Amino acid sequence: MNGIKKMLLPLALLAGTVATAAPVTSAEGNSRTIDIHTDRLSLVFAAAPGSVLTQCHFGARIDNSAPLAVSGTGVPAYPTAEGFDFRNPALRVTHADGDPNTELRYVSHTSKQLADGNVTETAIRLNDRCQALDVELIFTAYARENVITTHALIHNREKGAVELRDFYSSALSLRAGKYLLTHLYGAWAREAQVEHSLLDHGSKSIESSRGVRTTHTEQPAFLLTLDSDSFNEEYGEVIAGALAWSGNFRLNFEVDESDRLTVLAGANPAGSEYTLRPGETFRTPEMIYTYSNQGAGGASRNLHDWARRYGVYRNTHTVPTLLNSWEGAYFDFDFKTLAGMIDDAAAMGLEMFVLDDGWFGNKYPRNSSGAGLGDWQVNVRKLPEGIDSIASYAHARGLKFGIWIEPEMVNPKSELAERHPDWIVRMPGREAPLSRNQWLLDLTNPAVQDFVFEVFDQTMQLSKKIDYIKWDANRNACNAGSAYLPAAEQTRFWFDYTQGFYRVLERIRAKFPDVLIQACASGGGRVEYGALRYFDEVWTSDNTEALSRARIQYGTSLFYPASVMGAHVSAVPNHQTGNRTPLKFRLDMACAGRLGMELQPRQMDDAERAFARKAIDSYKGYREIVLQGDLYRIGTPYDRSGCYAVLYVSKDKQRAVLFTYCLQYQGRTLRPKFRLRGLDPQTNYRIRELNVEKPRFGFDGGTFSGSLLAEAGIEPALSKLYDSGVFLLEAADSEQPIRTAPTGSRSGLR
Ligand code: DGJ
Repeated sequence: MNGIKKMLLPLALLAGTVATAAPVTSAEGNSRTIDIHTDRLSLVFAAAPGSVLTQCHFGARIDNSAPLAVSGTGVPAYPTAEGFDFRNPALRVTHADGDPNTELRYVSHTSKQLADGNVTETAIRLNDRCQALDVELIFTAYARENVITTHALIHNREKGAVELRDFYSSALSLRAGKYLLTHLYGAWAREAQVEHSLLDHGSKSIESSRGVRTTHTEQPAFLLTLDSDSFNEEYGEVIAGALAWSGNFRLNFEVDESDRLTVLAGANPAGSEYTLRPGETFRTPEMIYTYSNQGAGGASRNLHDWARRYGVYRNTHTVPTLLNSWEGAYFDFDFKTLAGMIDDAAAMGLEMFVLDDGWFGNKYPRNSSGAGLGDWQVNVRKLPEGIDSIASYAHARGLKFGIWIEPEMVNPKSELAERHPDWIVRMPGREAPLSRNQWLLDLTNPAVQDFVFEVFDQTMQLSKKIDYIKWDANRNACNAGSAYLPAAEQTRFWFDYTQGFYRVLERIRAKFPDVLIQACASGGGRVEYGALRYFDEVWTSDNTEALSRARIQYGTSLFYPASVMGAHVSAVPNHQTGNRTPLKFRLDMACAGRLGMELQPRQMDDAERAFARKAIDSYKGYREIVLQGDLYRIGTPYDRSGCYAVLYVSKDKQRAVLFTYCLQYQGRTLRPKFRLRGLDPQTNYRIRELNVEKPRFGFDGGTFSGSLLAEAGIEPALSKLYDSGVFLLEAADSEQPIRTAPTGSRSGLR
């Protein structure tokens, strides 16, 4: 892990004072600009000592920002409850003496380059006019990725405790004629559904108060298209934001009487009052912003680039293609079952076997979701041979080995619950409701943090051949309370739980820097950049049905790169939706992410297995483009056309892979037209269809210029429901004649 990622890591409560340093650009009584920029993005503040810090610009890069300091167009950069600023405040506290007002004034700022010369950190120091409260706004600018991340440090120098009531990570002000908000909503097995709405006057909030597993219903991420009421992949100004926080969050969008939009983003303050003791500093979660004038596609690509380089635990290790045991065996397996699955996975060319839930618990065997959670000893009835023998079996067949844990949770029917009733999240005196027959463990308690670390550590000791851990979390926090926290500090639970989670992950990563870890939370309940600082990938949804997946993967791709998106082929009829889709369609969908399978291969016939083997083999040949390349979405899976495509282009534009899908029958006479943006217009590309026995389209094997493919496009005749096509494009030396589509062929190139 590189140094910069480390800087993003601990959201610790820091003791000591916020350092003050001599201002580098401000002169007494003189308003100057503080210019934070990347290659194509500027964030400009105006500052004068003793005055309110104002934000004057966020958007395309501007070169001489100095006039903005005197233009008077800025608005308070970090609004507090003061004076005539009646917007929702970013910071609202009750001071030690009961004073509910805060008037932050600029003190100084400093900038420094970090690590690799691509990253600059600017710290702006403010303090209250009357009370000994300091705030430091930290901005980290990533030049090439055009991303600026930000958080606040709130330091209490008062004589008594300060109550933090609202404590957002950032307040971003924008001024445009229209604001089109795009965000994700959903539920278990229906995550990442996309919704667009024009913001009107007043406030709209996107939030979670579920404590744990916070991203099923809402994502802490958004796109804002400016001055337009339609979403566009290629054109227009788009701002993207994403919060790196695994706990409760809130994004508040407020359009005021001057048509100005203020976006507040941070940990959800609802019910989370935080007592900041004298001398303590509170650090807010990190908020990530980017800007593009190339539509939503440009904003997503910026985020993907940033994520792969700085935001995800690491991008040097690709998670291998895998077979997961869950939907193929559930709780019902023994060594023979697993060995058979491993043999079949190896025969299909998969690279890892993951043993999911069900391998542990003896007094209360884990034979269903009703018992055993918390008792992390190998179940000797199911697996007398132990985990090492399965891991060794997999390794002997050339497969890596992964195993499932859910260390934050406990079944009432478990030895752990019998031993440690005080570790369960519940308000003393109230009942803790069960969800999936389980309770949540209290990660605010250091003893529980030790336990969770030990679960991971001891699981890793079960075999030296464990390469991957699937970390699950299958419930939210309800009736929250902690036997560990003092009565007056119960509202800290919501913040301290997540801090405790990160503390454990810090320890795990210090001891196990190389093991691959997936963040799963009943599917996509932990898809966010706070968790991704420690995890290599996420499980996007328990719904593996390929038609549903089109929308789930599309929504996820707005903010997260394909390299973190686990995508599995499962059996038909699908266990969640009951739908039946062709194996090719399922494979073609899963190949657009990190490919895996989640079924009993014995239930596939020989032809299916042979087909899967070929598709997996092709995937290995082009996955680098999917996982590390630039994504160009072509249309959306919501389009009336019923067809949708995604194109991944390698960074050097020498190779690309195009996935095309028909999601809905729309008449045989209609054929979709996909314009392949993102290729090099001057380069000639040879097109080859993959995942088929024989080429189906007239253009297959032909060579076409990037400009032709972008402007005239490609028209594969995908008109039947679940038709799909995967095409590899490779730079060819010279242009070959364009082949016309044979009469009656399925397709042509127009
Ligand atoms: C929920 C996960 O999302 C599934 O993939 C599976 O691991 C089950 N939990 C196991 O209980």
